[in-house]
Amino acid sequence: MRSLLAKRRSFQFSHWSFMFAEIAVWSFVVLAVTGAVLMVFYNPSMSQVTYDGSYGPLRGLFVSKAFDSTMHLSLEVRGGLLIRQVHHWAALVFVAAVVLQLLRMFLTGAFRRPRTGQWLIWVTLLALGMAAGESGNALPDDMLSGGSLWLIMSVVQSIPVVGTWALSLLFGPDFPGDRVIPVMYGGHLLIAVVMAALLIARELLVRRHGHSRFIASLPARRSARPTMALATIGMLIILGFGFQIAPIWLYGPAKPTQISAGSVPDWYMGFLDGALRIMPGWEFTIGDYTLSLAVLVPTLVIPGVFFTALAAYPMAERFLVSRRGRRDALGRPKTTSRMARETLARDLLDRPRETPVKTAIAVAGVTFYGLLWAAAANDQIAHQFHLTVDAVTIFFRFGVVVGPVIAFIITRWICLALQQTDHHVAEHGVETGIITRSPDGGFHERLTPAQQERREPAITSGR
Ligand code: HEM
Repeated sequence: MRSLLAKRRSFQFSHWSFMFAEIAVWSFVVLAVTGAVLMVFYNPSMSQVTYDGSYGPLRGLFVSKAFDSTMHLSLEVRGGLLIRQVHHWAALVFVAAVVLQLLRMFLTGAFRRPRTGQWLIWVTLLALGMAAGESGNALPDDMLSGGSLWLIMSVVQSIPVVGTWALSLLFGPDFPGDRVIPVMYGGHLLIAVVMAALLIARELLVRRHGHSRFIASLPARRSARPTMALATIGMLIILGFGFQIAPIWLYGPAKPTQISAGSVPDWYMGFLDGALRIMPGWEFTIGDYTLSLAVLVPTLVIPGVFFTALAAYPMAERFLVSRRGRRDALGRPKTTSRMARETLARDLLDRPRETPVKTAIAVAGVTFYGLLWAAAANDQIAHQFHLTVDAVTIFFRFGVVVGPVIAFIITRWICLALQQTDHHVAEHGVETGIITRSPDGGFHERLTPAQQERREPAITSGR
């Protein structure tokens, strides 16, 4: 039993795409360590003080203690700015690594049993990572934080029936009031604790179920974990050291009536910003209530549907496959040996081409996400290409509907074509370009046998 487990663990880095999970884990470790240092100096209070720190242009202004402590941390505490910047960069890299890990699991079918629990953990980590980033960005109480507080206020207000009540719970009687930063701070820490628990649970599940692998991948001889830890931590320190992020002294303290023209959200919030920009200003009045779809749909309905669809996909796929029963994707009855082989192959990953519909869904999803993300720059695109903002907005409104459909069709078509090429190679071998002449004068190209993965028939084709 022990040797079987050791063997399973030895597959840890049989493919480069396995590193995304490691980057996420080590980025989180960096977030926890730097976050613990930030906690020592940060003061989550909205009481006003007069700034008299080392940054001349802001001296004499009324600022919150949250802003004052973050300024002190950035400009007066030795190494403070490095820690803050590393924390911020680690947040950006963490969410990116989780997105890539989810994409890998989806494209390779690694979300199937027995790893559905891990899939659900990563989906939850993505939602929580975004929430942690958004709450973290509110904490310094600078002009950028003020912008995201406005957004949070509008989103909460747009929730039907309970919106106004939730708003007063978050902000108190006024906007911005003196409650929201402490609430955000509590939320930030609570979310971080839940994320830590989820990462530990995921680690235990990986130990229990072992790693999945591609059919032709070779077992890794040594664990790549220490290397990935060093590489991730090193990369984050370099980013924090050399690339400025969130210079709050340039933005100034939050003012409820002001927003900087150059404000942009962190990258993972870009798709919601884009959705907000292109959503038509639809609004309904029912009795005394106004329902603002212009905010509700892009900021709550779209992410809600997106995360629900992600979480439900493994179950939906299982349901559809069990309905198809004992027939394979081409409608042929499965033989017992074929089914037994599939059960045995639960650790084997799909090559994306073997599951054209699933791969096409992934590419359609990425296209939808990418177009929403690009729509967040509609003003910049209009400016650079000498167009009107209206024209660019209308383009994206159509694009987010038509683009994913086109992406789906093209991707499925490419996958099927690649499958055909594989079958051809499996039957005839790989062309070497070496021409030999036979004794009777004929010319023949020398062929070598295909690699293992191209010789194996696709067991899940069609899905
Ligand atoms: C694991 C435990 C964590 C602790 C103890 C922690 C603590 C803190 C503290 C004290 C601040 C305020 C200091 C400041 O504004 O510079 C902060 C800011 C922030 N946190 Fe965290 N945090 C943790 C995890 C996370 C996670 C998981 C994320 C996102 C994935 C995150 C994203 C942020 C961001 C974006 C900021 C704003 C940084 C800035 O000022 O530029 N944090 N965090």
